[in-house]
Amino acid sequence: CGAFSPLEGFMGQADYQACVDNMRLADGLPWTIPVTLAVTEEKAASLKEGTDLRLDHPDGTTLAILHLDSKYQPSKEREAELVYKTTEEAHPGVAALYQTGPIYLGGKVSVLHRVPHDDFGTYRRDPAETRKIFHDRSWRRVVAFQTRNPIHRAHEYLQKSALEICDGLMIHPLVGATKSDDIPADVRMQSYETILKHYYPETRTLLSVFPAAMRYAGPREAVFHALVRKNYGCTHFIVGRDHAGVGNYYGTFDAHYIFDEFDSSEIDITPLFFEHSFFCKRCGGMASVKTCPHDKENHVFLSGTKVREMLNQGEYPPPEFSRPEVIEVLIAAMQSG
Ligand code: ADX
Repeated sequence: CGAFSPLEGFMGQADYQACVDNMRLADGLPWTIPVTLAVTEEKAASLKEGTDLRLDHPDGTTLAILHLDSKYQPSKEREAELVYKTTEEAHPGVAALYQTGPIYLGGKVSVLHRVPHDDFGTYRRDPAETRKIFHDRSWRRVVAFQTRNPIHRAHEYLQKSALEICDGLMIHPLVGATKSDDIPADVRMQSYETILKHYYPETRTLLSVFPAAMRYAGPREAVFHALVRKNYGCTHFIVGRDHAGVGNYYGTFDAHYIFDEFDSSEIDITPLFFEHSFFCKRCGGMASVKTCPHDKENHVFLSGTKVREMLNQGEYPPPEFSRPEVIEVLIAAMQSG
């Protein structure tokens, strides 16, 4: 659908190696996360480079043809070390990487049928569709927001601060695979539907889903997220604290610094960097370490784990954490199991 342009299929060995080693494709264009098709050794043994393979859905439908031009054995450890900055299996992205087969197949993909989905209906828009919407709404500067969590006040603050200097905001929650303790995608989407209805101007906001898996690759994934949102037609991209991070694998602002390793003209979408933000009781509103002079005791900060604990016990996190309407959605989701 063009979301991963300039890729036209699964990476062959040259692109893969350049991506892992240099955060670029073989032709030099920036690309920070491998996009690969892993298979078992037995499967790979029966496949020849230069042939066409069917890619079938489990229901039997042939979704696409893979024009196989590269079959290779990657070093998963090296990929883990360079892409995720750790080889520990406790890292969910590394665990997922190790679970896949040892041989990669690369080549262009010709799509025959799109993967069928029965969730998120009209929120599933291809890059051509979001671009058309931006054009029709005369949005020239469009900021994208990536997320894998229900919305809270810090998210809202980042989005609205960014919207002050752009024409439109595309909220683009990731709805592919996430780790098991992340709040499910349908609940996250409900949190967004609810907050948009009550607190966002309809004419300036577009809610659409990003149908990719979360890799938790921190800084490298931030660049990847930005490049993909450029393909969806956005001109700006929000990068806050510990973007796409997990545990303590990355420094809080590594996802900002990594953009310095590229020329801004090659990335070609403007990252908007945000400091750690929070509700400050003395300021009486949202702020960040950049704009608030008060001590930490005045700041409302609740970790994801703390919020989950409160919700599990039917306790309401305070409005300084998230809007009451959003809290209702989260409590209802917890209660329905
Ligand atoms: S992510 O894995 O998709 O990055 P999350 O949904 O929590 O996780 O964050 C979405 C975006 O909001 C990211 O750019 C993240 O850095 C930013 N963010 C989340 N919470 C804060 C906060 N309190 N202060 C600043 N940025 C934040």
